[in-house]
Amino acid sequence: MKKIHYQTALITGASSGIGKAFAYELAKKGVNLVLTARSENLLVEITTDLHKKYGIKVHYIIADLSKSNTPELIFNELKQKDIFIDLLINNAGIGKWTNFLDQTMVSYNEMIALNINSLVALTHLLLPKMLANKHGGIINIASTGALQPCPYIAVYCATKAFVISFSEAIHGEYFDKGITVTSICPGNTQTNFAKTANANTKGMSYDTPEKVAKESLKALLKRKNNKIIGFGNFMQSFIPRLLPRKTVINIVKGMMNKKVNP
Ligand SMILES: NC(=O)c1ccc[n+]([C@@H]2O[C@H](COP(=O)([O-])OP(=O)(O)OC[C@H]3O[C@@H](n4cnc5c(N)ncnc54)[C@H](OP(=O)(O)O)[C@@H]3O)[C@@H](O)[C@H]2O)c1
Repeated sequence: MKKIHYQTALITGASSGIGKAFAYELAKKGVNLVLTARSENLLVEITTDLHKKYGIKVHYIIADLSKSNTPELIFNELKQKDIFIDLLINNAGIGKWTNFLDQTMVSYNEMIALNINSLVALTHLLLPKMLANKHGGIINIASTGALQPCPYIAVYCATKAFVISFSEAIHGEYFDKGITVTSICPGNTQTNFAKTANANTKGMSYDTPEKVAKESLKALLKRKNNKIIGFGNFMQSFIPRLLPRKTVINIVKGMMNKKVNP
């Protein structure tokens, strides 16, 4: 991997899974960190361990990013502490594998607020200072589920399609101004995600969160617009591009309807 040239990273959803793996990967490389999530006990544990092991500066901010004012609160806390973020990792996210009508609008609104609104808001708040310094990186975690419509995971996959489209557009706007925006498509990864999503991943292979974090940082340093994690996922991503859209919908429907509780 190229030498990392970022000083301080803000990682959302840093209390477990992929976000936690990013924290350890960056700490090993001497990058200072601001970690956010809702679980204070986990953030305290990780912050203490990272500081002890790697001697970096680590702060944590307890934050529920499904609330519309949270990005602003995080931004104000950073300003108050005089912390300049040159690497933003928008990682926090939740999904649901479900019949569309089986979830309430309250739960969909929470998912959309977290997966989309908070990511756009943090980008909007932190990008200006990166631009002023002509230096900054943003990693936005999407999903391979974003690469085609997914019956039975409809809202989640649509939020992740937004993440790719938004990230690539911002990549285009700011690439020549010293900013790299890289969206990441992990496939099935061994984290708490499946439990929260009520996802039946039985029989599916998975990547480790450490692999996802490492590959994502490599892609960022190569200034890529998007990275699909894992060769198998990369090859599968061609199928929706080659087949008629309706065929793709029916293939995914056939795969997923057996994996959702009636
Ligand atoms: N695992 C997979 O198979 C997979 C595949 C493709 C994409 N992804 C994406 O990868 C990202 C990370 O997920 P993961 O797999 O690492 O799952 P995870 O272990 O469940 O981690 C999710 C993180 O998001 C935080 N979070 C959840 N709700 C939040 C809220 N309302 N406000 C603030 N933080 C919140 C959680 O912390 P608290 O609960 O402490 O708040 C946790 O740190 C997500 O965007 C997910 O969509 C995962």
